[in-house]
Amino acid sequence: MRITSATFVKGVVGTDAILAGEKPQIAFIGRSNVGKSSTINAIVGRKNLAQSSNKPGKTRQINVYLLNKNYYLLDLPGYGFASGSQEEREWLHKVINWYLFRTEYQQKVLALIVDANVGPTPDDVDMINALDAARKNFVVVANKVDKIKASEYDAKLQKVREAAGFHKVIPFSSAKNIGIGELIEEILK
Ligand code: GTP
Ligand code: MG
Repeated sequence: MRITSATFVKGVVGTDAILAGEKPQIAFIGRSNVGKSSTINAIVGRKNLAQSSNKPGKTRQINVYLLNKNYYLLDLPGYGFASGSQEEREWLHKVINWYLFRTEYQQKVLALIVDANVGPTPDDVDMINALDAARKNFVVVANKVDKIKASEYDAKLQKVREAAGFHKVIPFSSAKNIGIGELIEEILK
């Protein structure tokens, strides 16, 4: 399966007909700055479809993209964003939870992006538990493997696998284009 087209549709922060439609939804979630937007760019083979930034908190709405004219891919704001005002953090948290855990919104699959070099954080573990409790279908993308020292690679990947439980873990690098085929396969199959 290949991604043959990808276009930006709109940014969403609340109830929207697009989320209640027929097209299958694929949501990209994860802590702030782990590389959700970069991962989307990597799989669609475009540098700037989703805006990425080295400043955490870049994505502030749910950006919806149409893939292969058939699927909605959703780039969510990051959780665990430590800077910014209290209201700002609460607002982002609300947008994320509203979309993920309202039963009227169903995702075909979610890609939970973690920073494999940093390792799964308590926020990541909380999210994995919440997704499991809501019986969501998700894969864990271990992003930024290019940053891991060779001598630490196995141990760091193992940590991600332990946190992921029975969910598939895909070693990935948006910077070095590692894992792209496998991630596309998982989200489109
Ligand atoms: P928010 O929208 O703030 O939640 O962030 P995000 O998760 O969308 O992250 P984004 O894609 O904006 O990337 C954050 C930073 O990580 C940027 O500086 C990227 O260049 C960098 N980055 C993303 N993926 C990789 C990777 O695979 N390897 C390396 N070395 N850096 C990466
Ligand atoms: Mg982003």
